[in-house]
Order: sequence, then C-alpha cells, then structure tokens
Amino acid sequence: MGILSGKKGIITGALDENSIAWKVAELAHQEGASIVLTNAPIAMRMGEIKKLAEKIHAPIIPADATNLEDIEKLYKESIQHFGGKIDFILHSIGMSVNIRKNIPYTELNYEYYMKGIDVSALSLHKMLAVAYKADALNEYGSVVALSYIGAQRTYPFYTDMADIKALLESIARSWGYHYGIAKKVRVNTVSQSPTKTTAGSGIKGFNEFFDFADMQSPLGNASADDCAGICVALFSDFTRKVTMQNIYHDGGYSTTGVSQKQLDALMK
Ligand SMILES: NC(=O)c1ccc[n+]([C@@H]2O[C@H](COP(=O)([O-])OP(=O)(O)OC[C@H]3O[C@@H](n4cnc5c(N)ncnc54)[C@H](O)[C@@H]3O)[C@@H](O)[C@H]2O)c1
Repeated sequence: MGILSGKKGIITGALDENSIAWKVAELAHQEGASIVLTNAPIAMRMGEIKKLAEKIHAPIIPADATNLEDIEKLYKESIQHFGGKIDFILHSIGMSVNIRKNIPYTELNYEYYMKGIDVSALSLHKMLAVAYKADALNEYGSVVALSYIGAQRTYPFYTDMADIKALLESIARSWGYHYGIAKKVRVNTVSQSPTKTTAGSGIKGFNEFFDFADMQSPLGNASADDCAGICVALFSDFTRKVTMQNIYHDGGYSTTGVSQKQLDALMK
C-alpha cells in the first residue's frame, strides 16, 4: 500500500529474525519507508542485523541506548543519511538481568534492577530528550515503544520488568504531552502479546505462559508480524491524532477474564 512512502525512520532492537523490531523494519520498508537500523554495539557481534540491513538497504549505526553521546551521534548520522529530519522511531529495547538470572521479585538485586531501568525505560526518555534538544523529528513524527501488560497486572515471572514497563509507559505519556505541545510529535506504547524472541524466551516458564495467553485470547496471541502491522499503522499519517496511548495488541487477552478453553483444560 505504501502507507509510509517518503517517511524516514530509526528502528532499534533488531537482533535476529525473531525480534519484533526485525519484522517492523521489514514491513516499514515494504510500505515505502527509508530506515536506519541501530542496536547496542555488542549486539552487532552476536546478531544477524547485517542480513536485515542488506535486505532493506538500511545503514546500521551502533548506539547504546543508555548513552547520550551515542544517541546524539545516531540522530546526527541518520539525518545526514536521510538528508532530512526523522519521521518515526521504534523503541524495541528490553533487558532484565534479574530475569536472566532467574532472581525472584522478593529478592531482586538492585544493581541489576537499576541496569534494567536504564536500558529498558530511561533509554526511551533519553532518546526523546536528545531528539527534542536537537530538533531531530518532523512535525507529526511518531515514536512507538513496546510494552507488556505486566505494567498493569501482576505476573510473578515478570519481576522487575513489571515495574520497568510501568515506568516506560509513563515516560511515553509524559513525552507525548511535552513533545506534542512543542512539535506535534506523537508518543505511544504498544502492549504486545507474549512473543517468542530472545528477550521473551529468557523468561522462565515462557512457553507454558505463551500457550496460556493464547488460550485466553479470542483472536489468539498477536505475533511479531502482527505487531509490525500496528507499529507501521502508528508511524503512518492515518493515526495523526493518536498519542499518549498504551495500545493493547493482544488478540483480546487483556479484556478476557477467562476463556472456555482455559476452563476445559482445568476440568480435564
Ligand atoms: N517477546 C515478548 O514476549 C514481548 C512482549 C511484549 C513486549 N516485548 C518488548 O518488545 C521489545 C523487543 O523485544 P523482543 O521480544 O523483540 O526481543 P529481542 O531480544 O529480539 O530484542 C531486544 C533488543 O534490545 C536490544 N538492547 C538491549 N540492550 C540495549 C542497549 N543498551 N542499547 C540498545 N539496544 C539494546 C537487544 O540488543 C535486542 O536487539 C522489548 O521492549 C520487549 O520488552 C516483548
């Protein structure tokens, strides 16, 4: 359809082809956008991002999203590459050392907790603050960050990421206000179903929970490909007045109390 025709965007977080960001980059490219890919320098070595870059003709600009200088450089080089300002940004960055190390909520390590906050939530604040200061985004530019319903409801396995996603969503709202007033820039979060990616699968019991959520959702879990669709829609001009929202993209999971499928499974 070409709904992003002529638009220029930065996509963070594409690590391998399971990454949600990978699917968003592919669809945004298909819809006519020019893209710059970025990820933490360490991910360049582990990941397969170069394959994606070749496929969608995008340069890769490494940047640690917790580092202000890296972010400044990312915008400067992106604007040079595009020959103009940026229309959209996908924030697709999440990491909890406490989850990786399987540490329960009641025993969280605070150093890891702070690291998780910096990488997974403050990085959005920093990316917006640097863009605001450098006036890097076009009017009606659109910034989307990926979240999870653990921000609103308790999931024991989600430990510190629950608190961190709540902060991420609040940062999106606050920036949505300030950047909206100043430049009409939109900021939203998409609250995505459990998705089989490196970050997702690091959570203990993830596969069982994935099936549980799928049973609860009238439409089934939303896949990474589905998530690309909502992100691209939010980058497009068809959603110019959508801002400061947390959009549940979960096949109906969040508003279903219990499904018959779940009850049948328990009654077996
Ligand atoms: N997978 C799920 O079940 C699920 C569900 C809802 C929301 N999300 C969110 O989607 C987003 C993307 O995760 P994913 O599931 O595609 O997993 P993923 O592991 O493919 O992506 C996470 C990315 O974050 C990047 N990253 C980590 N530290 C960074 C840093 N300091 N600077 C820059 N980048 C850094 C990683 O290199 C990686 O590319 C995350 O915010 C995650 O919390 C995932």
